[in-house]
Amino acid sequence: MTIKSHMKGDVAMNEVRNNILVDEWRIIEKEFDLENNVKNETIFAIANGYIGMRGTFEEGLDKKYSIEGNYINGFYEIHDIKYGEKAYAFPEIGQTMLNVFNPKVIKIKVDDEEFNMMNADILEYERILDLREAVLKRRVVWRTKSGKELEINFERLASFTIKNSAAIRVKIKPINFDGKINVDSLLDADVKNLTAEDDPRVGSGITGRAFEIEKKVIDENYYEIYASTKKSRLKLICSITEDVKNCIILNRKELNDDLKVGFSYEIEAEKGKEFELIKYIVYVNSREYNENDIIKNKEEIIKQVLEYGYDRLREEQIKYVKEFWNRADVEIEGDDFLQQGLRFNIFHILQSTGKDGLTNIGAKGLTGEGYEGHYFWDTEMYIIPLFTYTMPFIARKLLEYRYNTLDKARERAREMSHKNGALYAWRTINGEECSAYFLASTAQYHINADIAYAIKRYYEATDDVDFILNYGAEILFETARIFVDLGHYVEGKGFCLDGVTGPDEYTAMVNNNAYTNIMAKEHLSFAYEIAKMLKDKYIEKYEALKQKINLNDNELDEWIRAADNMYIPYDEKLKIHPQDDTFLNKKIWDFENTPKDKYPLLLHYHPLVIYRHQVCKQADWVLALFLHSEKFSKEQKKRDYDYYERVTTHDSSLSPCIFSIVACDIGYKDKAYDYFMRTARMDLDDHHGNTKDGIHAANMAGSWMGIVFGFGGFRVYKEKIKFNPIIPDKWKKYSFRVNCKGRLIKVEVEKNLVRLSLLEGEDIKVDVYDNPIILSKNKDVEVIKVQM
Ligand code: BGC
Repeated sequence: MTIKSHMKGDVAMNEVRNNILVDEWRIIEKEFDLENNVKNETIFAIANGYIGMRGTFEEGLDKKYSIEGNYINGFYEIHDIKYGEKAYAFPEIGQTMLNVFNPKVIKIKVDDEEFNMMNADILEYERILDLREAVLKRRVVWRTKSGKELEINFERLASFTIKNSAAIRVKIKPINFDGKINVDSLLDADVKNLTAEDDPRVGSGITGRAFEIEKKVIDENYYEIYASTKKSRLKLICSITEDVKNCIILNRKELNDDLKVGFSYEIEAEKGKEFELIKYIVYVNSREYNENDIIKNKEEIIKQVLEYGYDRLREEQIKYVKEFWNRADVEIEGDDFLQQGLRFNIFHILQSTGKDGLTNIGAKGLTGEGYEGHYFWDTEMYIIPLFTYTMPFIARKLLEYRYNTLDKARERAREMSHKNGALYAWRTINGEECSAYFLASTAQYHINADIAYAIKRYYEATDDVDFILNYGAEILFETARIFVDLGHYVEGKGFCLDGVTGPDEYTAMVNNNAYTNIMAKEHLSFAYEIAKMLKDKYIEKYEALKQKINLNDNELDEWIRAADNMYIPYDEKLKIHPQDDTFLNKKIWDFENTPKDKYPLLLHYHPLVIYRHQVCKQADWVLALFLHSEKFSKEQKKRDYDYYERVTTHDSSLSPCIFSIVACDIGYKDKAYDYFMRTARMDLDDHHGNTKDGIHAANMAGSWMGIVFGFGGFRVYKEKIKFNPIIPDKWKKYSFRVNCKGRLIKVEVEKNLVRLSLLEGEDIKVDVYDNPIILSKNKDVEVIKVQM
């Protein structure tokens, strides 16, 4: 059912796709679309990396059409993982990001008739997520049964400057009447997580309410709920302070039942006069503040928020995103549809990423409960690159999260019988492994090398020695030890890694997954290089670290020996890199006779059936071709790409962007464009049919990578910054920015020229199509012919 409304407002009519208006900077819904509402609650989610609020309505909606969701990054409940048959070192405890108390509730009543989007007579409607303001707006004109008309403007934000806070403002104007309006404003603790038995991508182990309410407070102009989770024993306080302006309050009652607390206002409203209610929302939890300080911190945060007030919170929001767009914007001329998709993706990544070193970014961000809010390798391989080259301090915070969970990785390594070192969890919130299916999780040892890769790129781009000395080196050394312990030398091959799973989860527990091996090789030699650097330049730090982790100098020799001798499988007959030792011996999946509705295969075939075939869920070796593109000739990359393209289903949303990037590199322009177009609006257009469960965060960042690394051909190798731009036939022009080595560089690509401008920083040499040019702030930009 689609509820039609008249169209009016500040938005000029434009093209509409999937009921979303195509606009460069805004996501606009002009007709309330009940059928797609659950998906749109993800699309219109607001978050700041700490608080995430789905785009649900303040007044609520029938559960059939809505998933109410409010999340605090890193705040979780635990549950026992149930196994039919359990083996040694299987994780016993799962973690689930909790759906926390709902602070949004605002119910508006006139003559006992309650406003809601399903039954009310809505004369005008629009909902806008504004990417330049980082606020969600909704405007409705409601006519009551007795003909009274009200204009209601809702606005909501999650503050980027005060991370523990969010705010909602509603402005109400009686259009054609004077009289009473009732407004109930609440904090609702009657919340639960979703459970979905059948889809491993959504399911949670939490049933029932996860909180025990410790206390409710209601005073002057604020109300609060203090609670602890039943099992993880984490504390959460949510405090709401209210401000009602421009009206006469005839009566204000306290609302206080078992699970809800708030105020009920009776307001004397005047025709044509707008009044407003502002809710200042603050959450604090015991993962960030110890229990003795939590209340003091809450008070300080509330004080700051109230000093700011709504207008300042809003201004700061605009300032913050302006600075972000100055570094991260990507422009496409000639395709608004794509432009909207890209900015939407980039914005959602900013919204969902934890920026405090204690939290990270879940596969679904802070927009839904898919994957239980878990963090994966997605962070290092997809999200961090975006921040490394735009706002590197955020990349650093994500890497600090890994440092802060290093002890858990050490414990996991011991459980996995490694005598020393650290093995990072495949999926986790607090650092402990919580995947029950080891073949597609614990076996993915490449996560250690992925983290090392992200550190390497971050360090190369920022020269942040402080990070290396205080965090990076320890992570690198501890994780490198695992590969040396895991591997062994095989005559005629070299250093081999057995019993691992690569990124492709349709192939499991193999020997010498080529991706894992090449990543481990790079990891070990980087760890060696860093150890050398520490020894040469920071001997005291090195000695202290050595002592802390009980490192022996001989281990360094082991690292470099293993790196130098790492076995990278190669098939002389086909002249390609086999994905692992046995991949090419398997039967190729019968793609021709697999109907469309049998995809994704994981929902229709037992894993064994899938494992027995040559079929890939996602980019595996092709990802290595991107990450190590300088190591292979174009011809080699083409042969590998052609082979793997034939056997890849892209059942994972992490896949198409990587195929697009490599296609750019090898000159497959059309394929590059087609794969890219699958990424750019994946969530806006719900390509996978599951956007309702949350955004596909890795893919979103992958679409940024598609522009910058793919079409823009941007790469950094040690001191060299390179660009190799190409432009798809369908675009007139595109541009992007990268922040690297303290420089902010803008790259514009048109059909016949590439223009580079140095927006910030000292002169720098970059290579464009392998020709060196000097960029300088005060000199005119260089103009170069585009090579195809
Ligand atoms: C992919 C993994 C990914 C996970 C979370 C899975 O479908 O195969 O590579 O880490 O989703 O995004």
